[in-house]
Amino acid sequence: MTVRNTNVPDFIEHRRSVRSFRREPVDRGLLDTLIEAACLAPAPHHSRPWRFVVIDTDRVKLALARGMGARWQADLEQDGVEPERVRELVDASHAKITSAPALVLACLNGLDRYPDETRQRAEWGMALLSLGAAVENFMLSAADAGLASCWVAAPIFCPEAARDALGLETEWLPHALVLVGHPDPAYVARERPRVRLDELRRNL
Ligand SMILES: Cc1cc2nc3c(=O)[nH]c(=O)nc-3n(C[C@H](O)[C@H](O)[C@H](O)COP(=O)(O)O)c2cc1C
Repeated sequence: MTVRNTNVPDFIEHRRSVRSFRREPVDRGLLDTLIEAACLAPAPHHSRPWRFVVIDTDRVKLALARGMGARWQADLEQDGVEPERVRELVDASHAKITSAPALVLACLNGLDRYPDETRQRAEWGMALLSLGAAVENFMLSAADAGLASCWVAAPIFCPEAARDALGLETEWLPHALVLVGHPDPAYVARERPRVRLDELRRNL
């Protein structure tokens, strides 16, 4: 098959993580289109071990931010972090999540079961890798549609807290949260380190 778009590397380079949005909502139909693109990502034997939760109401954003925030606060306190710093971190995360016009939460679901731990871990790893590919498809498609997005790690540290906050099925394990919205034109993307092939690639 011939792929005609010769400008893909440039396009990939221009996608940036954006953490500030205009207030206007994101059309749900457009979000569905982006999720369909996510679902075209490579997956182990077409398994698509993913589920996507679309959130655009203040009530549900708050529930998710509070559920994950409480877990993070407990972890930070357990680590012995200064109370003032704990509040600062948890509040910043709360604001980031609740101020995005839409959230798309990518979950793992439907992994094959193996009797031994080695293969179970490999199955888990495959599912997570494919979830990452799906999220990248989602974010590139969002950029193509003129939307801004940012991947937020929080749920991978507390999948059960995120799941319970949203009342999801036990089998749906949240792993990647993507903030989505129309970009704030004043936002300046953080500096991106140069790709150093000499460190990252080895020719044999
Ligand atoms: C798995 C993963 C987790 C991330 N978690 C966060 C996060 O919690 N908060 C945040 O602001 N950005 C987060 N990011 C975005 C990265 O900071 C960002 O992709 C990186 O700095 C490169 O910038 P760019 O996407 O603009 O190229 C995450 C990215 C990935 C892939």
